[in-house]
Amino acid sequence: MASDKKFFIETYGCQMNFADSEIVNSILIEDGMQPAETPEQADVVLVNTCSIRENAETRVWNRLKELRTIKKTNKELTVGVLGCMAERIKDRIIEQEHLVDIVVGPDAYRDIPRLLKEVDDGRKAVNVLLSLEETYADITPVRTVGNGISAFVSIMRGCDNMCSFCVVPFTRGRERSRPMESILKEIQQLSEDGYKEITLLGQNVNSYKDGENTFAKLMYEASQVNPEIRFRFSSPHPKDFPIDLLHIIAEQPNLCNYIHIPAQAGSDSMLERMRRPYTREQYLALIDQMREIIPGVSFSTDIIAGFCHETEEEHQQTLSLMKEVGYDLAYMFAYSERERTLAHRKFEDDVPEEVKKRRLSEIITQQMDIQKVRNQEEIGNRHLVLVEGTSKKSEEQLSGRTDTNKIVVFDRSDFEPGDYVEVEVTDSTSATLLAKPIKKSSITEFFGAAVEA
Ligand code: SAH
Ligand code: SF4
Ligand code: F3S
Repeated sequence: MASDKKFFIETYGCQMNFADSEIVNSILIEDGMQPAETPEQADVVLVNTCSIRENAETRVWNRLKELRTIKKTNKELTVGVLGCMAERIKDRIIEQEHLVDIVVGPDAYRDIPRLLKEVDDGRKAVNVLLSLEETYADITPVRTVGNGISAFVSIMRGCDNMCSFCVVPFTRGRERSRPMESILKEIQQLSEDGYKEITLLGQNVNSYKDGENTFAKLMYEASQVNPEIRFRFSSPHPKDFPIDLLHIIAEQPNLCNYIHIPAQAGSDSMLERMRRPYTREQYLALIDQMREIIPGVSFSTDIIAGFCHETEEEHQQTLSLMKEVGYDLAYMFAYSERERTLAHRKFEDDVPEEVKKRRLSEIITQQMDIQKVRNQEEIGNRHLVLVEGTSKKSEEQLSGRTDTNKIVVFDRSDFEPGDYVEVEVTDSTSATLLAKPIKKSSITEFFGAAVEA
């Protein structure tokens, strides 16, 4: 019987994986199991895994090896692999690494209680079936991690884009949207529970669709639930970004003036090889339009260095695109070949490792310089910061983020996590703004009421 057992979930990978772990939490608690504080105290340890790059998988393999040592002292321990590595390497996980007892893909989490019972009966248990429908719409995630201030809400699953470098369509299957009503219900509940910031998640949120309801409509409806909750979303795709959403962001004070808009590369030839169906010119025109409609909007992006056949000229164009946009934040990666992707089947991973590393480091260095300048320009500006917690460096200071997603550190005074505080920026580094607090405030007070749509 599973009911008196304790479980522990460890999560790797993107925000969506973290959101999924909260769904698994809910499923297991519903089944009568209890969360454990540490893996050592657990009867069942589940590792929610990521396949996006080689090093993500390496980290998981190393962790599974560590768990084997716990299994030596606790022979009853059940170890499971969830998430994006499950489908791809189920045979290897079960047969070669005698440590793993269950393997569950991202669409099969409802089956975990049954699979655990199979393990109790002495069998290995696997369900990696991908689904065309599963959105876990009726499951209320149990949020055991996090600060009670910020929450992630999954609005869709899977991805149909097939960017040539990316494994996600294979690990997570076809794209499907969760019904709008169930998303709004979850947001309402988070509002009642006192949450202040909600990020709506999907691999390609632009293509959210529930009957007549589009992503722009969903964001608008979300913004109306509570004017004092700020909303973000991740990730949109540059290819069919809904322009009506930009107006809605400009009009609604609680929709953050911050857009994560992954470019991946800066040249048309590279974008084509990556199967990103936009040109450099179209991407830059979109950025201009965003800046025009939402004054003061900030941007972040994802960039890959050293994708197949990348020339020095293409690399230079990526650098120049990043300079031209002037991102406030960037997630930068060296290309890592993944099995099953189009690139793996069609192109050679031919940029030497040291060239990839050098290009990535040029990209990172330039980005740090850009951020340094952009953050210096913030000195003297006022922002509304949502306090998230104590600063990493000092107990005397708090840290939080602006509407534009910049990290701000300031003196604690009487403020508390969960407060909205108006601050004035006094100093900056490439990663952080330092500020002096002015007063406790609110979204409505700082930005004014919503413009009637
Ligand atoms: N759906 C999201 C991306 C999720 S993966 C989107 O399209 O925005 C996050 C990022 O990882 C991608 O944007 C890409 O920059 C990077 N990435 C994906 N596959 C990769 C690979 N094989 N090697 C290196 N980076 C990769
Ligand atoms: Fe991967 Fe492209 Fe889908 Fe993002 S949009 S998850 S990069 S295939
Ligand atoms: Fe990783 Fe899967 Fe997310 S591969 S980045 S955990 S969708």
